[in-house]
Amino acid sequence: MSQSLDLYRKARTLIPGGTQLLSKRPELFLPEQWPAYYSKAKGAEVWDLDGNKYIDMAYNGIGACVLGAADQDVDAAVKHVIENGQMSSLNAPEEVELAELLIELHPWAQMVRYGRCGGEAMAIAVRIARAKTGRDHIAFCGYHGWHDWYLAANLAEDKALDGHLLPGLEPKGVPRGLKGTVHPFHYNKIEELEAIVAKHGKDIAAIAMEPMRDHGPEDGFLKKIRDIATKNGSVLIFDEVTSAFRMNTGGIHLLEGVDPDIAVFAKAMGNGYPIAAVIGTENVMQAAQTTFISSTNWTERIGPVAALATIRKHRKHNVHEHLIHIGTMVQEGWKTIAKKTDLPLHVSGIPPLSHFGIDGKDGEAARTLFAQLMLERGFLAHKGFYPTFAHTKEQIAAYLKATEEAFGIIAKAMKDSSLMKLLKGPIAHSGFARLT
Ligand SMILES: Cc1ncc(COP(=O)(O)O)c(C=O)c1O
Repeated sequence: MSQSLDLYRKARTLIPGGTQLLSKRPELFLPEQWPAYYSKAKGAEVWDLDGNKYIDMAYNGIGACVLGAADQDVDAAVKHVIENGQMSSLNAPEEVELAELLIELHPWAQMVRYGRCGGEAMAIAVRIARAKTGRDHIAFCGYHGWHDWYLAANLAEDKALDGHLLPGLEPKGVPRGLKGTVHPFHYNKIEELEAIVAKHGKDIAAIAMEPMRDHGPEDGFLKKIRDIATKNGSVLIFDEVTSAFRMNTGGIHLLEGVDPDIAVFAKAMGNGYPIAAVIGTENVMQAAQTTFISSTNWTERIGPVAALATIRKHRKHNVHEHLIHIGTMVQEGWKTIAKKTDLPLHVSGIPPLSHFGIDGKDGEAARTLFAQLMLERGFLAHKGFYPTFAHTKEQIAAYLKATEEAFGIIAKAMKDSSLMKLLKGPIAHSGFARLT
């Protein structure tokens, strides 16, 4: 694996932080051993720079490749665009076609804007909400990207984002003038939002949240949020950057029967090609015309074409059914094997966004050893697994067989305190504790 590892060492001298996305940092998985770079990815398989082949039982493009890497139908549509001009002085007609498709899937919405990244699209949504209401404050739950409006939460109080995403997330460079403009609340804790509204009521432009993540709403949580937003005149923004296209074709909120004023999509929507959408009611979305939201690269053609091909394939094949099936197989496998090997393990997440944690003070060392043992067996594997349409039952069976070996070794090492002896490098860094 020397080429991949050498290149990553060089990257750290040229690229601050090494990667463009925190969740792709090798240190989060297996420091000094994780093959940081790929030469080829196809379906659920990926090759590193040294020609080693792995089955991706980790995050599959950090949740972007919902159909699998290099999907032939999406790629065929993209190749057609490349041959016919991907950029021009005129606009891409597929922007309109995609808007119609998104509105057909989400009948409560009437208008659509586009970006290319999830966090960027959330910033667009927040700008529209602020423009619409003439208010500055945002109440939020969960993770929404790297932009100033969101990181400002940590200006108010260093620990404000703890329990939401990254404990200790640094807001350096975010203007101090934004201090006190964003207010976090926890999922299923309606009283926290009620307290924010009681205090800042008429300053709140938007309530921004994922409609669902690790677990579903309890006690009419989403409906109560909807009522609060409506009564308070705040824009309800559902961040569907990661949750959409997992349990259904479109936003997961459709399954809950609660309509937001704006919903935001990215990641899976283009199967990895950059495309993001902000959809909303005409009443709210027209406010985009009262401010300035505009970018050259938002007009390129590959994004909307890839999204059209991805969504149509998703709908045609009920891709979510496969994701749920494969994710459930893996979750059940983890539980059964943990019991059999006596490993203290807990499983969480909807099947298409599956996670496990190893309990106890050595949990971090244990999950690092899991990545190491699985890599040796030909799998990119970690404490999270986001299945794709490309994963086969045979791949899952092979993965669970290797997992049984790994869990057995880890359980024994936890008992006789030999975890550190078995690890060939440092313990993985923690980060992205996406607690909502
Ligand atoms: C809920 C949610 N919002 C926003 C983002 C940011 O999206 P991106 O990384 O495409 O900017 C993410 C990414 O993980 C996310 O999960």
